[in-house]
Amino acid sequence: MAKKLSQYVSREPDENGLIAWSDEENSIWHDLIERQLTIISGKACDEYMAGYKLLNLPQDRIPQLGEINKVLASTTGWQVTPVPALIPFDEFFRLLANKEFPVATFIRSREEFDYLKEPDIFHEVFGHCPLLTNPAFAHFTHQYGRLGYAATPKERVYLARLYWFTVEFGLLETAQGLRIYGGGIISSPGETLYALESAIPERVPLNPLDALRTPYRIDIMQPIYYTLKSVNQLFEISDMDIMALVYEAMELGLYEPKFSPKVTMTNETT
Ligand SMILES: [Fe+2]
Repeated sequence: MAKKLSQYVSREPDENGLIAWSDEENSIWHDLIERQLTIISGKACDEYMAGYKLLNLPQDRIPQLGEINKVLASTTGWQVTPVPALIPFDEFFRLLANKEFPVATFIRSREEFDYLKEPDIFHEVFGHCPLLTNPAFAHFTHQYGRLGYAATPKERVYLARLYWFTVEFGLLETAQGLRIYGGGIISSPGETLYALESAIPERVPLNPLDALRTPYRIDIMQPIYYTLKSVNQLFEISDMDIMALVYEAMELGLYEPKFSPKVTMTNETT
């Protein structure tokens, strides 16, 4: 299987850790953040909004990673680290295990303004960094990195499902109704509305063993979302013997997919 290459190339920071983003790149960031802030209002969870306020992200330009690091260092001790557009799994887990959140330092083109498969700096910073100021979310992500770094490739595929249904696509039950904490939803205008308002997807309380056994596709709106009762539940999950659950999931096997298989286009390299 030939590995698909990214069309994007990450920008290199200079010796002071600064990236000289172009006016067009800054303008794409501005348009993305302006639109998404309106859409997530009243839909992102309070913990996300509190972290967003702490980060004080600029709207007229792409933030420098050093600005984010000051806030993360003083809240949970995390850092963001610039990486190429695609990195090996080993490196991804090694960074998380070291409390470094990898951020590919490129921003999507206007042609992919609404959706792109590869996580760009908007997804990583706007989608994930606010919650990295939250101790439960930060601890869970750290624990996931440590387990993933030590895991085999097959075990990592299972672990990735737990990450997918929490860090990327998790929902939160609150007294005010359902809210979003997953960064994959928060950085997507279409899925922010779909995840909370559509009658189509299932929304069920998170049981880690179920999440480990639930197949997903990255290129469709999710047919199922798992909900937490509070962000602090991520502390409880971190304390579980997650690898024992991975082995149990391997024994029991995957659930039937709730989506149709991906059709490979003839011009697609796989
Ligand atoms: Fe992500």
